[in-house]
Amino acid sequence: MPDIPTVTLPSGVSVPALGLGTWNMGEESRKAGIEIESLKRGLDLGMTLIDTAEMYAEGGAEKITAEAIAGRRDEVFLVSKVYPWNAGRKGVVEACERSLNRLKTDRLDLYLLHWRGQHPLAETVAGFEELRRAGKIAAWGVSNFDLDDMEELMAVPEGRNCAANQVLYNLSRRGVEYDLLPWCQEHGIAVMAYSPIEQGRLLRNADLIRIAKAYQATPAQVALAFLLERDGVVAIPKSANPDRVAENAEAADLDLSEEDWKALDAAFPPPAQKRPLDML
Ligand SMILES: NC(=O)c1ccc[n+]([C@@H]2O[C@H](COP(=O)([O-])OP(=O)(O)OC[C@H]3O[C@@H](n4cnc5c(N)ncnc54)[C@H](OP(=O)(O)O)[C@@H]3O)[C@@H](O)[C@H]2O)c1
Repeated sequence: MPDIPTVTLPSGVSVPALGLGTWNMGEESRKAGIEIESLKRGLDLGMTLIDTAEMYAEGGAEKITAEAIAGRRDEVFLVSKVYPWNAGRKGVVEACERSLNRLKTDRLDLYLLHWRGQHPLAETVAGFEELRRAGKIAAWGVSNFDLDDMEELMAVPEGRNCAANQVLYNLSRRGVEYDLLPWCQEHGIAVMAYSPIEQGRLLRNADLIRIAKAYQATPAQVALAFLLERDGVVAIPKSANPDRVAENAEAADLDLSEEDWKALDAAFPPPAQKRPLDML
């Protein structure tokens, strides 16, 4: 069993720093079996955080997730997201009910605003807080929020209850390290790193391939180890291939030398100035 580190949320709850993405799952019924098997494999290996959204396959990924967690809901830290156009005070409550139905559960562990839209943040937060008081969600957070968005969020009533911000973060997208990541770390807000292997594009990088080879590891494992090294960061790679899920889980056991961390910094330089938050 890989030794997966944990991240502590503001509530004191610990979650694995390596979870499971679900984007593109639930699109084709012939792939459902392997997608469910992949998620189950991840749960068996301790990647017990699942990230989904009402957007993914328009509810299809939540239905796949429901199958994967059937009979083991309590083992799982379940994250879903609301579309910005559903994120008014009433709309967010209704969207959550629909997600809960698809997920065949009575509660989400974390509910995120997928990205900023037209609804005032105060309304979205009021809806989230209503859901929290009703026990439908244990915590809420945001996604694709840059530092200025986070500061605006902190200024709305109960905005400081935000537990997480899910953003694009990987070796080739290190802009958040300049300001957003340290800010979240100081405020105890977890950063969920999405597209942690840049949807596979990172894996062709020659430096990454060279460093991985030296450890008999894979480029994906090095890319994930880079994120696991950071405090308060949860990486959520997606794979619909059980063997790759197992490969990703083993990133937790990879220890790079100081020299190789430096080689990674040389190949993927950290930001020297503010960069606007990237989105996919
Ligand atoms: N909040 C947001 O706006 C947002 C945006 C994007 C993503 N997300 C979340 O973050 C999750 C992860 O991001 P992502 O799906 O965009 O990208 P990703 O996890 O960086 O990459 C997924 C791709 O890499 C492949 N892959 C996974 N592990 C591999 C391995 N060990 N070796 C080779 N290929 C591998 C997968 O193919 P196979 O499935 O065929 O293995 C898939 O094509 C999403 O699923 C979603 O839950 C959130």
